[in-house]
Amino acid sequence: MKFKSVKGTKDILPGEVEAWQHVERVIHRVMRDFNYREIRTPVFETTALFSRSIGELTDIVSKEMYTFTDRSEESITLKPEGTASVLRAYIQHNLGEQSQLVKVYYLGPMFRQERPQAGRLRQFHQFGAEAIGSQSALLDVEMMALALEIYRQLGIEQYELNINSVGCEKCRPKYKELLVAELTKLQDTLSPESQTRLKQNPLRVLDSKDENDKAATKNAPLMKDYLCDECSAHFTAVRQLLDTLGTKYSIDGRLVRGLDYYTKTAFEITSTALGSQDALAGGGRYDLLVEELGGKPAPGVGFAAGIERLLMVLEKSGNTPKDESGPVLFFVALDDNSLQWAFAEAATLRAKGISVELDYLGRSIKAQMREANRQHARYVIVVGENELKSGKAKLKDMLSGTETEISLQQIQSSFQV
Ligand code: HAM
Repeated sequence: MKFKSVKGTKDILPGEVEAWQHVERVIHRVMRDFNYREIRTPVFETTALFSRSIGELTDIVSKEMYTFTDRSEESITLKPEGTASVLRAYIQHNLGEQSQLVKVYYLGPMFRQERPQAGRLRQFHQFGAEAIGSQSALLDVEMMALALEIYRQLGIEQYELNINSVGCEKCRPKYKELLVAELTKLQDTLSPESQTRLKQNPLRVLDSKDENDKAATKNAPLMKDYLCDECSAHFTAVRQLLDTLGTKYSIDGRLVRGLDYYTKTAFEITSTALGSQDALAGGGRYDLLVEELGGKPAPGVGFAAGIERLLMVLEKSGNTPKDESGPVLFFVALDDNSLQWAFAEAATLRAKGISVELDYLGRSIKAQMREANRQHARYVIVVGENELKSGKAKLKDMLSGTETEISLQQIQSSFQV
């Protein structure tokens, strides 16, 4: 029997992982520059946390979650996104009492049982940030700026920022009524999926990818034109701050997002390099969610971004970082005695932070040299009986090809960084 990775999951192999590490380094650095601190929450949570926050009727909760009953008969779900877990931890550990504004970020695997395709996986990775405790539009825009700064530092320039306001509990219900009345008139022309959404989650009809739906709802009312004074002022502030930063953006009145917890600002960053799954990142404000999850009311805003999609864009633009550096030093040993000496010397050098490799396969000298070359070793030292006796050996610089003599006593000091 041959085992294969489960559909929609991927191994990240040596040779690929270097690009991930590079991206992760940039994420950690930029998050620190914006003064966000890392939070790590468990990979699974109780199912109700997600249905409560993301919304029972969303695609994520109704169709895509990896949910199972564990041996204690508890319903558990692998986290499909990070926000709910972060807010659960915020409430559970009273983080709001220690500081009025909590700024955290995360990085890790998420799970959704979607139909796999390019840029859509069942285990994928997100990085994201949440700022809990302030209503300021500065933070809405900081989230966008944070994501865009990470992209900028990685050399991603091909993207679009789309923003919208999805209103609040004061203005949305009235708008929803109006939208339902308008869409009901068009009901027969809508796709079956939109007809279902009209009943369950009418705002999402506007988000339909179906061309017929798009045409039919061309003149449908949009939330952004029915905002209450508070939401309207907030949306204006967001736009002004984006202008202040000189950030280009478009207003997309149809942007509603696939999660129910948003209030006021919603945004997405898309890339034309991605094809049909074109969202690099998405986020927005969720001023009611902490309370909804049982905490003291606290406004919040955040975003999350897919790492696989980011890497796809980097690859398309030829910007995938490659790390071909091998060990600094490779010992080529001519006999068993020398190999044992090299093994002990390698341990000493490694303890000093010098990366060293040697031969474990009893290869010929020629094959050991070839291996050192294949692994991109920077230097090779050849040791045999004579070298051990004289205490001197040849040091080959694999880049220039030049050979010099080195004292075996002084390897450590010669390679000290
Ligand atoms: P989301 O839009 O569901 O938002 O996901 C954010 C990003 O994760 C997407 O833009 C996409 O890049 C990536 N992504 C989502 N699903 C997949 C998948 N199946 N395969 C590959 N990549 C995927 C959230 O998750 C919210 N928690 C964002 C947020 C944080 N809002 C406020 N705070």
